[in-house]
Amino acid sequence: MLDLVGPERVDADPVTVFAVPTTAGTGSEVTRFCVLSDTDSGRKVSISSMRVLPRLALLDPELTTGLPAHLTAATGFDALAHAVESYGSVWNNPVSEGHARNAVALIGRHLRTAVERPENLEARMGMLAASCIAELAANSTRLGLAHALAVPLGAAHHIPHGVAVALMLPGMCAFNEEAEPERYRELAGLLTPGASRMSEAVDALRSDVGLTTRLRDWHVAETDFAPVVEVALASDNTRANPRVADAGDLTGLLRAAA
Ligand SMILES: [Fe+2]
Repeated sequence: MLDLVGPERVDADPVTVFAVPTTAGTGSEVTRFCVLSDTDSGRKVSISSMRVLPRLALLDPELTTGLPAHLTAATGFDALAHAVESYGSVWNNPVSEGHARNAVALIGRHLRTAVERPENLEARMGMLAASCIAELAANSTRLGLAHALAVPLGAAHHIPHGVAVALMLPGMCAFNEEAEPERYRELAGLLTPGASRMSEAVDALRSDVGLTTRLRDWHVAETDFAPVVEVALASDNTRANPRVADAGDLTGLLRAAA
């Protein structure tokens, strides 16, 4: 499968896939990316091709009511990051922006309820829709620094993807909102009506849904940062970020979550 890793290297249509998500976070049901763990290199790699898009995505909230609170929270944060990072991306466009804004508002309205009341179908449907819509946005824009760092962190230290993303997201918002204060203020208001700083609104949501771990809880120390930063610097997601980040900036984001 490693022969297929990279952009558009799939040269035949695969078996038709109908995707029925049972978490509300990755948006895999509408994505052109397949993320694989390469156990030899200890890295995550991705196949990117329009050919691997599922033919049908079926969103049924009843299939997510059994998802435990911690997975609801972590996967919900993955969806939030897809929307926020897509919105900030240097490759954003009017279509992706509309999707991203819509997803952020849905997550602000529904994630706490989905975590607190797992059987609430309105909240579950809101989160499934948000996850799907956020990935529709991210398909054309790539993401940002939170994913650039979360992917190698997750691969090297076995941190669940959504948890790793949640560790990085408030710091990334704080870093980016200095460069683009207006755009991030708009997002803050969509996530939490009345909020003006996205980093604070994201941080408040994160603690409300119980995502309280730090990197040290996952046995990641300062000495582990360099290889994570090296992979992140080579990522397209770093190039998509609205504020240019160097190795020192990325190390600072990790330090803020230590
Ligand atoms: Fe993600």
